[in-house]
Amino acid sequence: MKIFVPPIKSQGIKTKLVPWIKEVIPKKINGTWIEPFMGTGVVAFNVRPNQAILADTNPHLINFYNEIKHDIINPNIVKHYLEEEGDKLLNIEGYYYEVRKRFNDFHNPLDFLFINRAGFNGMIRFNRKGGHNVPFCKKPNRFAKSYITKIVNQVDNIQKIIQNSDYTFIKQNFEQTIAMANNEDVIYCDPPYIDRYVDYYNGWNEDDENNLKMLLSQFAGKFILSTWHSNKYRENEYLKTIWKKFNLLTKEHFYHLGGSENNRNSMLEALILNHQPPKIENKIVKTQKLFENLLYMPTSNKSLERTSIC
Ligand SMILES: C[S@@+](CC[C@H](N)C(=O)[O-])C[C@H]1O[C@@H](n2cnc3c(N)ncnc32)[C@H](O)[C@@H]1O
Repeated sequence: MKIFVPPIKSQGIKTKLVPWIKEVIPKKINGTWIEPFMGTGVVAFNVRPNQAILADTNPHLINFYNEIKHDIINPNIVKHYLEEEGDKLLNIEGYYYEVRKRFNDFHNPLDFLFINRAGFNGMIRFNRKGGHNVPFCKKPNRFAKSYITKIVNQVDNIQKIIQNSDYTFIKQNFEQTIAMANNEDVIYCDPPYIDRYVDYYNGWNEDDENNLKMLLSQFAGKFILSTWHSNKYRENEYLKTIWKKFNLLTKEHFYHLGGSENNRNSMLEALILNHQPPKIENKIVKTQKLFENLLYMPTSNKSLERTSIC
């Protein structure tokens, strides 16, 4: 399956889980595909619905894709920008931090792309004041010709997908996005994982999780929610409580942070659904049962997959 990789990276990116998510979503979407937590957009760009509302509270993601949609950013502009700025990165000591400061002052979406792709581990992280604070990946030659070509191709692919469809990118809270949904629509939620990584745009607590569950419970259409199930140290307790009335699927996933084999972390990922998935109906189990036995249901032989966000 060809996966379209977006030009923006982030720590929670679902690139490697897209085939599994696509397997589980309804085969036909009559209404609008709605993502209240769009992030990098990789799920929508691969589901490729005709109509979508893609929302997030992080304004920089929304601005970036709106500029691609309106051709303010395009492959040509990205190529020239990265060639020029990449040259300065190579030749001027501390240039990454100059661009990061410029981005924090003026919020130019091209500078957002630059620090996203030259920052440590492709992370998006903001401090309390909303300032991007990811350090340099320490590779002055980051924007070598082949890397620029790769990013330019990613912009090209995503721009074609966006411009051939009816997508709305909107900066707003998940409550406002879910309020826009009709019964025919399908909602895919990928909130910050509860009890795990947090930063300014990814602050997420029990009240948020409860509120999301309440709004999704009231929604008459179909929803799919991504969350974590367990790793070798902990289980997501919320699956046993607030999400227990829904259906649950799991898949083991391998996060690979950095180059060292020691940095591989296995995590059981979860999808929560308020309906039966199309292909794998006979494999579905309720949350409670799953926790009793810690059953693991691979949907293919390639169940262990690696993600590198480097
Ligand atoms: C796990 S990421 C989504 C990743 C995305 N599915 C992808 O593959 O790139 C969660 C996203 O939720 C956004 N977010 C956090 N709190 C939010 C809120 N209250 N309402 C809407 N979006 C929020 C964050 O800015 C972040 O982009």
